[in-house]
Amino acid sequence: MCGITGYIGKNKNAINVVINGLESLEYRGYDSAGIAYVLNNKVNIIKEQGKIVNLKNKIDFNIQSNLAIGHTRWATHGEPNQINSHPHSQGKFTIVHNGIIENYLELKQELIENGYKFKSSTDTEVACTYMDFIYSKNNNILKTLNEVSKVFRGSYAFGIICEDDLDNLYALRKTSPLIIANGNNENYIASDVPAILRYTNKYILLDDMEIAKINSDKVVVYNQNLEIVKKEILEFEGSFESSMKCGYEHFMLKEIHEEPSVFKNTINAYFDGDFKNIPDLTKYNNIHIVACGSAYHAGLVGKYLIEKYANIPVYVEVASEYRYKHNFYDKDTLVILVSQSGETADTLASLRMVKEKNIDTLSIVNVVGSSIARESKYVIYTKAGCEIAVATTKAYLAQISVFALITMYLSNNKSKEILEEINNIPNLLEEIINIDYKNISSEIYQNQNIFFIGRGIDYSICMEGSLKLKEISYINSVAYQAGELKHGTISLIEKNTPVVALCTDDSLLEKTISNIKEVKARGAKVIFITTSDIEGDFYDFKVNVPKVNELLQPIITIVPLQLIAYDVAKLNGCDIDKPRNLAKSVTVE
Ligand code: M6R
Repeated sequence: MCGITGYIGKNKNAINVVINGLESLEYRGYDSAGIAYVLNNKVNIIKEQGKIVNLKNKIDFNIQSNLAIGHTRWATHGEPNQINSHPHSQGKFTIVHNGIIENYLELKQELIENGYKFKSSTDTEVACTYMDFIYSKNNNILKTLNEVSKVFRGSYAFGIICEDDLDNLYALRKTSPLIIANGNNENYIASDVPAILRYTNKYILLDDMEIAKINSDKVVVYNQNLEIVKKEILEFEGSFESSMKCGYEHFMLKEIHEEPSVFKNTINAYFDGDFKNIPDLTKYNNIHIVACGSAYHAGLVGKYLIEKYANIPVYVEVASEYRYKHNFYDKDTLVILVSQSGETADTLASLRMVKEKNIDTLSIVNVVGSSIARESKYVIYTKAGCEIAVATTKAYLAQISVFALITMYLSNNKSKEILEEINNIPNLLEEIINIDYKNISSEIYQNQNIFFIGRGIDYSICMEGSLKLKEISYINSVAYQAGELKHGTISLIEKNTPVVALCTDDSLLEKTISNIKEVKARGAKVIFITTSDIEGDFYDFKVNVPKVNELLQPIITIVPLQLIAYDVAKLNGCDIDKPRNLAKSVTVE
């Protein structure tokens, strides 16, 4: 939620670097954007409602600055207008912020009593003012940041400029991510790696409550006792191109086209005929899977596969529910957290809650070094690379690939047959990605309601297909267990209502076809997606999906749904990579 970036250095124009960085972070939020830059020892702020392009139109790029911070916002406190946009300033401080200061109202009251006035309704302006308030008493920036870090409740990654020290850029974080990258006579801060990839792939991660004092030559990181700490330099595996569109019209389309290699990289990291780099998971006799959104849908696939093939009971729950309910654990429970970003607030909170009960945790995470990955007992990284489109495609595919692997591992299936099937999956993915689904999309894009039905594992895929469609095309879509529809929802089916019906499990084919006939009889326009070669008059469109081992089937079946969602959104003229109201990484509850 929100992206921040900053630059201090002698080689480049800080304004260009920050704007480029913000553009790479725009997937984190696009309600407004702003920049603060230093010119002639003065801090100047420009901010604008809406996407970064609006901000760019207000900037004079001929101005040369060597210190700037920037922000792209997903609004939490206060409507997404110009006044509430970041950066915020008060007294000697100007800041950008990703996160939420939960106790901002009580701090605001204290500050008002001390004579401060506020322009916006944001928690960030309060945080900035509180910094100024503490600084006015101790006149020491490091001590101020250390003190506020103990007062602020909630989550934050701050980029900070103090008028009294324009030779340094400061940063402070708790829970929200923040990286610092070193260049030659220049340094960068950012919420995520894409913002720095065009300059370097080496970076350090700021840990909770650490403060960084950064000038063009060096970065000094302090812990809570204000002692200097030595930080490990990490290297990002992907290239700058991995964060660019590379000729594709949208990131989403590019990322779908990357799925064959994402599958290959993810499997190769953990299986080469034998299992490798997988922690010992054999001692657990029950599993909880906790995640949000698409990652939760991946967990549903995991449940189905692990229960059926490894015979271990699996309980799956969305993280925002799991963290507040009564759950049943025993000493042999493993909790699996699934997250692309590794920063999702509810998933992270669930992880922390479970750890307090001394339950073992495994995370399946894409972003290396993210909070969920670092705080879990075990981690299996998906190898999806940078995912920029807000709607996840390749990272979801990598998550269900990991669940196939875990199931193989738990059921000790490393047969020649499965190895051969695995080796063939990238080719099959290529084939299915290159099918043109526009005949289907053009038939359904004007409908207001679309239904997805399936049984068993296909129902889990329907959930993801339905979410993909609604999040980027704004068409109301609902996924239902095929047999459940007639218990209420079928009343919504009328002439030409699109129903996408999935059936990849032969043992459920007849039952599913009966359900399809029930909606067809009520006028539905049926899109039948199946591995079966059955023909009939119960569908309007048929997509033949190659039949593979059931462990791998979801990896193939999801692709047409992703592409149909993409085409439908495109036909509706939607902003595919940045759907309204959304942000990629949800670091608030
Ligand atoms: O980063 P995470 O995987 O933890 O994110 C969880 C959800 O917010 C995410 O999967 C969301 O549902 C997708 N953007 C949907 O495409």
